[in-house]
Amino acid sequence: MATIETPSRGTWNSKLGFILAAAGSAVGLGNIWGYPTQVADNGGAAFILVYLVCCILVGLPVMIAEITIGRKTGKNPVGAFKSLDSSGFGAIIGYWGVLCGMMILAFYLVISGWTLAYVFEEIFKYSGNSELSAWFGQLDNGPKNAIFTIVFMLFTIGIINGGVSGGIERATKVLMPFLIFILVAMIIYVFTLEGSAEGIRQYVLPDFSLISGDLILSAMGQAFFSLSLGMGALITYGSYLKKNQNVMESATYVTVVDIGIAFIAGLLVIPAMYVALNQGIMIFGADGDLISSVALVFTVLPQLFENIGGPLGLFISISFFLLLGLAALTSSISLLEVPVSYVIDEHGIKRKKASLIVGGIVLFFALIISFDIGLIDIFVNIFNEIGLPLGGLMTCIFLGWVWKTGNAITELENGMPGAANSSFVKLWAFFIMYICPVLISIVFITTVLNLIR
Ligand code: TRP
Repeated sequence: MATIETPSRGTWNSKLGFILAAAGSAVGLGNIWGYPTQVADNGGAAFILVYLVCCILVGLPVMIAEITIGRKTGKNPVGAFKSLDSSGFGAIIGYWGVLCGMMILAFYLVISGWTLAYVFEEIFKYSGNSELSAWFGQLDNGPKNAIFTIVFMLFTIGIINGGVSGGIERATKVLMPFLIFILVAMIIYVFTLEGSAEGIRQYVLPDFSLISGDLILSAMGQAFFSLSLGMGALITYGSYLKKNQNVMESATYVTVVDIGIAFIAGLLVIPAMYVALNQGIMIFGADGDLISSVALVFTVLPQLFENIGGPLGLFISISFFLLLGLAALTSSISLLEVPVSYVIDEHGIKRKKASLIVGGIVLFFALIISFDIGLIDIFVNIFNEIGLPLGGLMTCIFLGWVWKTGNAITELENGMPGAANSSFVKLWAFFIMYICPVLISIVFITTVLNLIR
């Protein structure tokens, strides 16, 4: 159980470096595509409340747990669990994480590809070429999806090979605030349009009768997805973390930023949905359900850009899709880094080769999804809604009952002197041992019962 410090592994350059990388991993399609879609799908504000509860009562504690395990062991998830527990139970959690990460990345790449394709869609729409614009904008256009998926995979592999702390760290520092700026500017614009008031109402006034087992499962899955939890991404990122950094504080920053950006994105998309509805765009079917939830954001926002119109509309739309693509890229690298670091550490393969092997396997699945985007829903159900909370559950049980919270608190003392006496830390330990496993289990048991019924 010795701490194995591998000095050859990289570390984050600065205190901010880790927070930026972890926030970059957290903020992505989950915030701007996933969250608003879930809110719309699950009846508005009721979902938001449950989502917040999941993020704060389960997400944040699990995030602290993952980072602590990563920093203690300095390893990829499989190696980390192995080195804290020789019984073999732990390694299963790591393998599960590697599998979920790869499968989530597979559909993530396809959606990321849509962001780039929409840059072209918008350009061709502006220049009046409706045929090309339709080609790029068609979400189930297999060959187009495949091309952009491959492009996105190449970017992801390129960054994984070049190291995280260079360009991407610097770029996100400037570009993410710009993304927030565009979101806020668009919110202000949307609020002036007819129909938005109904959207705002839906977004802030909860209808508690809508809270169901299904909704809670979706909210829990979305919380894990958006915070990048449950598959060891933050174990891996934590393994590059210096000992003098305060883990609790960093995790709290990341969680707050992630929730904040999702909230802002919802404040844009939900009112924009009702504006589009007001303008005759079909969003709900006869049964009242969203016509296609994966397409929602990609239907509603281009409509909004068209409303703005002219060169300004073009400028805003291109900036938006490029920045969303960049946000997706800082997330996809964290998904790929987990299996890659596993292959490097446990099989002694060089980084370049490892990223090509893992990338190739993921790409295989991503290409299948490119030609059948209906699979996205299935992948989300299995690997995101069930897979991630399951990984989180096992992580809590492992930390609380196998490795023991006392050992974790000793690790937390690094960068947080006096951690053992902090009531926040004690509360965290209690949550990891009891509250989080119970809450996640309840969600699972209700889901299973619903399935059998
Ligand atoms: N959190 C990212 C998003 O919201 C997606 C993501 C990146 C992720 N790394 C992850 C999801 C690890 C689950 C696990 O877009």
